[in-house]
Amino acid sequence: MQDTSFAIHPGNEQASNSNQYYDIGALLDYEKTDLFHFRCERGWVSLSFYADDIVRITMKPLSKPTLESSFALIKASQDVHTICEDHDQYLLIKAAGLHLKINKNPFRISAYDPLGRLLVAEGERGMAFTQKQEIICFKEMDAADHFYGFGEKTGFLDKRGENMTMWNTDVFAPHNPETDALYESIPYFMTIRNGFAHGIFFDNTYRSVFDLKSSQTRYSFGAEGGELDYYILAGPTPKDVITQYTTLTGRMDIPPKWALGYHQSRYSYKNEQEVRELVRNFKHKEIPVDAIYLDIHYMDGYRVFTFDYDRFPHAHSLIQELKAEGINIVPIVDPGVKQDAEYPIYQEGVRENHFCKYLDGNIYVGEVWPGISAFPDFSNTNVRKWWGQKQKFYTDMGIEGIWNDMNEPAVFNETKTMDLSVIHENDGNPKTHRELHNIYGLLMGEATYTGLKEQLSGKRPFVLTRAGYAGVQRYAAVWTGDNRSFWEHMQMAIPMCMNLGLSGVPFTGPDVGGFAHDTTGELLTRWTQLGTFTPYFRNHSNLGTVAQEPWAFGEEVEMITKKYIELRYKWLPHLYTLFREAHQTGLPVMRPLVLEYPNDPHTSNLSDQFLIGENVLIAPITRPATYHRVVYLPEGTWYDYWTDTKFAGGKHIMVSAPLDTLPIFVKEGAIIPEAPAKLSTKVPDEQIMIHLYPSQQQSEYILYEDDGNTFSYQNNQYLERKITCHHDENQVEINIEDIYTGYSPSWKSMIVHVHGVDTMKTIYVNGQEVKGSYLKDKQIFTFELNQ
Ligand code: GLC
Repeated sequence: MQDTSFAIHPGNEQASNSNQYYDIGALLDYEKTDLFHFRCERGWVSLSFYADDIVRITMKPLSKPTLESSFALIKASQDVHTICEDHDQYLLIKAAGLHLKINKNPFRISAYDPLGRLLVAEGERGMAFTQKQEIICFKEMDAADHFYGFGEKTGFLDKRGENMTMWNTDVFAPHNPETDALYESIPYFMTIRNGFAHGIFFDNTYRSVFDLKSSQTRYSFGAEGGELDYYILAGPTPKDVITQYTTLTGRMDIPPKWALGYHQSRYSYKNEQEVRELVRNFKHKEIPVDAIYLDIHYMDGYRVFTFDYDRFPHAHSLIQELKAEGINIVPIVDPGVKQDAEYPIYQEGVRENHFCKYLDGNIYVGEVWPGISAFPDFSNTNVRKWWGQKQKFYTDMGIEGIWNDMNEPAVFNETKTMDLSVIHENDGNPKTHRELHNIYGLLMGEATYTGLKEQLSGKRPFVLTRAGYAGVQRYAAVWTGDNRSFWEHMQMAIPMCMNLGLSGVPFTGPDVGGFAHDTTGELLTRWTQLGTFTPYFRNHSNLGTVAQEPWAFGEEVEMITKKYIELRYKWLPHLYTLFREAHQTGLPVMRPLVLEYPNDPHTSNLSDQFLIGENVLIAPITRPATYHRVVYLPEGTWYDYWTDTKFAGGKHIMVSAPLDTLPIFVKEGAIIPEAPAKLSTKVPDEQIMIHLYPSQQQSEYILYEDDGNTFSYQNNQYLERKITCHHDENQVEINIEDIYTGYSPSWKSMIVHVHGVDTMKTIYVNGQEVKGSYLKDKQIFTFELNQ
């Protein structure tokens, strides 16, 4: 009926207005133990600190909050020093990085930074609940507020004016600005107001809603059940907020280098011959590739942890041979286990009590690819362990990466998922699926990643997931699900990935070329250009769609896509250094301009260009037959990456972008390492190039390198090379110094390119003048340094 005009029947209106909220009322009394407990007329509020700039506020109607441990959090509350002042009308609780003013009647919380700048405030409305135990929190909205994050959402970058639901959902229908819940639920956002930022993480796994639409002066977040449990992150910069958020929810390990290469997928390369033919094409055409994906056809009747030996008679040797050629195989693994009395995984799952059940003890079954299937109850530690150990089937064959799909979990029925009344045992603290739905994918990711890690004897696993919750970055990269080969979907992927990055998930990307629908050569070309700079770079397409490999559309498309896939490999040292930064700080690799220029009003909703790190700007072409576009360059001086033409920033410029050109701009002051192009990340680099774009101010870059493959970096086996440079009228001064030498890189020489050398300036490296060659038309001075 929702597809007909019934959807807008006047009778539908009342239903949405029928919920009456009960305000928490006035403060009655409070106590301070290791945390603060406030008893109010209609509910309890607890308050605890996780750092001096992170506070957790939890409200439960009718009884004290339980403060149960969270699935998202890796951090425990801290004993933060606070001062509490009790005034007539209000309380003041001060920590070094955050002050809270608690109005007593009605109970309202406002947060300030230590300088007295208001972060979040409650006005006429505050915390409330309904008869049905739905909970909600209202906050004042400033006219200057812009909102970012919220995980994986369609639409533009700034979410002001949107109403968003968190409910992990398999959406095959075309994603459009009206598509709300997708595969990932990250109930977190950042507000930027006049250049300053703060964040809110609403840690509630029920279906939740963020309403930034119904009012111009107030927003709300609420959920169908559970406690009103949220954190205020004080900022003050957007980067601080991400670091605070990822202090709570964790950061990714450094991915294996091969996971950063180009990946080729298809639903499905159906048999060994197709895979071998594919590899032959890559090799023959000399197009780099690091991974090939096996979609559901590799399995025996779509049973996970099996191979169809008719289609893949030599699966084991195929995997080994490809590995020797620098290519990893990544098989898909869905959660649904086929109900089949003769299938060992199903037998074991039933016998050992690993599947989700109803309250009466019957196993829940639902239909997915293998037909009627049971679903592991990942909320139990022993089930995660079991699933983790099962990965051995793959690791024994030499597999190091797994693709987790359908883990919302998706079920082929009206509701698209399992019955909400299914019970998750949750290590003895049972909860319904209604409560734990949103974390099913996160826990499957944990089981897979941890299991792989245990079996790979020190090698880094790679996990790709479709579904997740806050904290998913600890286990997996995220691709944005079933997009289509529409130009609009390529456009949409840019703000979607940027907001995922602001939500603590740095390793993201869309299906390049588009999954469903038929792509075209032009779309594939432009999308591959974009994919070169999305953190995750995989071409994937649906059953029955036209071929989408780089060579599928003739010579010109092949030549250009190859050029960009090669460019990806050239940029790997920089991307890798940025992934290391993501590991250390949580900051994304792919960044909206507002993250670096929060005071610049042009950046607040800039959705069609992005930065790689701090100072490389990518402006993809996202429309057909379009060979020019407007690019916004923020303050500073910018170089066109291809021509070295200089532009003054702080303005919009028109740039030309023929089909083989992706507009890229590098900011003066940038230092960018670059590797030679190669066919796989497995090929060691003999030399490395360093591009310097010196400015008058000193700039600095710390090049990071390790073995790219194992966890030995966690035992200090890595290299940090610090490069600094600046110029004055007569000279360019460069300093290169190894600041940590726990690893010796494969490259033995560095070719240094100094850009923008407008006269024949003298170039000094570590105080010594160097000789080199000068490329006049680009004003680039080049010299070589041996180790
Ligand atoms: C889902 C996935 C898609 C995959 C297909 C078959 O639609 O999102 O990527 O190819 O299932 O496994």
